[in-house]
Amino acid sequence: MTTTSTTTSTSTTAPRTAPGPKGAPLVGSLGPWRRNTAEFLLGLQRDYGEMVRMRLGPMTVHQVTDPEAVRRVLVENNANYVRGPLYEQFGVVMGKGLLTSDGDFWRGHRRAVQPVFLKNAVTDIVPNIVAATEEMLDEWEAKAARDEPVDLMTEMLRLTLVTLSRSLFAYDIKPASAVLKRIVDDVVEVMFRRGTPSEMLPSWLPTARKRKIDHIHRVFDKVVADVRENHARTGEGPLIALMEQAEDPATGEPWTDRQLRDELLTIYLAGHETTAVSLCWTLLSIANHPHVQDELDEEINGVLGGATPDADRAAELTYTRMVVDESLRMYPPIWIFPRAAVGPDTLGGYGIEAGSSILLSPLASHHNPRHWDNPVAFDPYRFTPQAVRERPRMAYLPFGAGPRQCVGNNMALLELRIIVAMINQRFRLNLVPGDLLQYGSPVISLRPLRDVMVRLRPRERRTGGASASRVGAPAAESACPYRPGDR
Ligand code: HEM
Repeated sequence: MTTTSTTTSTSTTAPRTAPGPKGAPLVGSLGPWRRNTAEFLLGLQRDYGEMVRMRLGPMTVHQVTDPEAVRRVLVENNANYVRGPLYEQFGVVMGKGLLTSDGDFWRGHRRAVQPVFLKNAVTDIVPNIVAATEEMLDEWEAKAARDEPVDLMTEMLRLTLVTLSRSLFAYDIKPASAVLKRIVDDVVEVMFRRGTPSEMLPSWLPTARKRKIDHIHRVFDKVVADVRENHARTGEGPLIALMEQAEDPATGEPWTDRQLRDELLTIYLAGHETTAVSLCWTLLSIANHPHVQDELDEEINGVLGGATPDADRAAELTYTRMVVDESLRMYPPIWIFPRAAVGPDTLGGYGIEAGSSILLSPLASHHNPRHWDNPVAFDPYRFTPQAVRERPRMAYLPFGAGPRQCVGNNMALLELRIIVAMINQRFRLNLVPGDLLQYGSPVISLRPLRDVMVRLRPRERRTGGASASRVGAPAAESACPYRPGDR
């Protein structure tokens, strides 16, 4: 862990103020931010560069996409940058857990859960990923026979929720998955649609929002109770086992019921929706790029034939991994995340005041033309080992970076690779005509504009080498109708 320092330069001259939009009196740039945040942030990078200063109401905010400045915030001087007020919304539902805490509390909890997420440990969950995916694909078989479209986002949410719950908590959540999908929608609503007069009333008054929060907690309290009871009976579930044994480093006491509830809720909420969104974008990108589909077929036929993946075979699916990486670049599920500066600092030569906010924006960083040639093109060959080596590491941050990097990144990447391969072995996806592949209005994660209904075509099995190799084929212009600058 690095220590807090307050400047990158020994110069005595006052650091410059970063360029940025003037904004309107009092509200600053809140108007364009609210109209279309994704478009606004991409426009800021295009118009002002990699360090942009803006006002959002009373807050001074810097969007930081200069890779060296990103490194300073997330790695070198990370102790100077805490979660801050923009993260407080998460605490309304998640309480105090890994996502929302800082300092010794965060460190103790991160150490406690980390072992199950290490690269060598996550391979234990492969049988769960495979079994849950097979169950889904069998259901798809029946739908395909009736030519019935599937709602891709709903399917992916259920699959990742079931996989996470069985893998980490040995708890079968499938029967409750429809209820939980509605609850996750409520979570998004109560965390982010604020600002009505009723929210200024005392917190003990039963407002509609408060009733919703109470309902969310009641549903999750039941899940937590079931997970704990199931673990007490069977001893199963690697993560719940660690949580039950965990101690508060300051007191030596076991985690309280409340701490365990908050952390379990954090893992459920942070772990399944992000992976589901990414699966959705990856499958849509494949369906819209026939040469990517062909090359994927060739790899999957060669490595797996008709067999289901195990951990070793999954590791051999290198092109599949490149496709997933490119999808996470074009469509990073966590498209922005904030920090608050504890003390003053200098980033990219510009001054940062204590108490001001920093916005890390994977969406803008991943479309930065200084590091990504033709960033709106979907091209998995951006992720050959050599291309990765030649690019600044902090130009790509779908999972964040530094000590607060996503604890579940190994698990998510393994799931994505295996599920994409298994779907591809059995089906091709046709977009239902008329559906658009557009960024929706992002709230927590960057979802497609609306429900994505896809029709499924059962695959004709190939016996290897049948498809034309397109190694190095030029990147096709993305079918995504979004183009920075178009709108
Ligand atoms: C494609 C899937 C995923 C994406 C894109 C993603 C993205 C991220 C990002 C960007 C952060 C850093 C936020 C920040 O620094 O402020 C983060 C943190 C976190 N993620 Fe993920 N995540 C994914 C999957 C998962 C999974 C599968 C789990 C758990 C099962 C998980 C649990 C967490 C937790 C607990 C944190 C907070 C870590 C800490 O601060 O110590 N995520 N995630």
